[in-house]
Amino acid sequence: MDDLKAKYLGQIADAGDEAALEAIRVAAVGKKGEVALKMRELGKMTPEERQVAGPALNALKDEINSALSAKKAALADAALDERLRTEWLDVTLPVRPSRQGSLHPISQASEELTAIFAEMGFAVAEGPRIETDWYNFDALNIPGHHPARAEMDTFYMHRDEGDNRPPHVLRTHTSPVQIRSMEKTGAPIRVICPGGVYRADYDQTHTPMFHQVEGLAIDKDISMANLKWVLEEFVKAFFEVDGVDLRFRASHFPFTEPSAEVDIRCSWEGGTLKIGEGDDWLEILGSGMVHPKVIAAGGIDPDEYQGFAFGMGIDRIAMLKYGIPDLRAFFESDLRWLRHYGFAALDMPNLHGGLSR
Ligand code: DAH
Repeated sequence: MDDLKAKYLGQIADAGDEAALEAIRVAAVGKKGEVALKMRELGKMTPEERQVAGPALNALKDEINSALSAKKAALADAALDERLRTEWLDVTLPVRPSRQGSLHPISQASEELTAIFAEMGFAVAEGPRIETDWYNFDALNIPGHHPARAEMDTFYMHRDEGDNRPPHVLRTHTSPVQIRSMEKTGAPIRVICPGGVYRADYDQTHTPMFHQVEGLAIDKDISMANLKWVLEEFVKAFFEVDGVDLRFRASHFPFTEPSAEVDIRCSWEGGTLKIGEGDDWLEILGSGMVHPKVIAAGGIDPDEYQGFAFGMGIDRIAMLKYGIPDLRAFFESDLRWLRHYGFAALDMPNLHGGLSR
């Protein structure tokens, strides 16, 4: 027994990692380990012998077990010390002047799409993120009972009992900026409205706050053909490819008639997404000819004016362009992620110098 004890305590002291410890445990006190084999021999002993050997074997087993757990704790401590010694960060160090932060991919994508639409004569309009339900819904031809209200998982602002002001919501889309822009400038009008929007939703492709860009063009002779051209030019410029196939799929939105969802041709070959080739289609936006009721809600005469609108997910097209697989990472503020996916802060994208160098 003394030999066994010396052997195993020595091995435990020398063990370099958890795997080695486990091997020793199995050999010593495991079901078929040496101590168990010795215990089996107890049956062949005289009662007197057994009275001495039994407790001694149990004591040996206990001793080996506690040496094992002490060593295990010591190994874990040593591993932690090693990490603390090698992984450190001096937060008081000055920032390196060569790279003081970078542009978030959403900012970059917004700059890029703004540059592209600016070239086509679109101004940038903005609206509040806290909207009245009139701008967010009613003015867009989504009346109170309309299922779209429920579908959008809207965040409603708190109202005290007896507060009769109109209900406010966190805007669920950028479409209310259509109404605000028409009210402000009248027709003709050509604007894009990029910004944050909110819906109660969270998974790999949904976050409670995300970004859209709305487009609106109203004039006397604007048609679906203009919409198609504008979107084709945009997609070519944004994804920096010469040719793209777009598919206009008939759809339904309360604020457009007719309505179309637009898919872009792509391929997923080898697990990577390529725009402009292949046999797959990916939805990138909703669009259509603005409903006369919406034009009227914006204070413009729908008998005289008509036009198109579209709404596109900025995060979505940024994910596509830059190959970012999880939307949630956009909003986790992980510096390593930002360094990897960020863009040089002083490189303003423009169509002549290149969008994303
Ligand atoms: N507002 C829609 C949404 O958030 C997107 C949309 C569809 C906007 C069609 C439009 C449009 O302007 O014409 O899902």
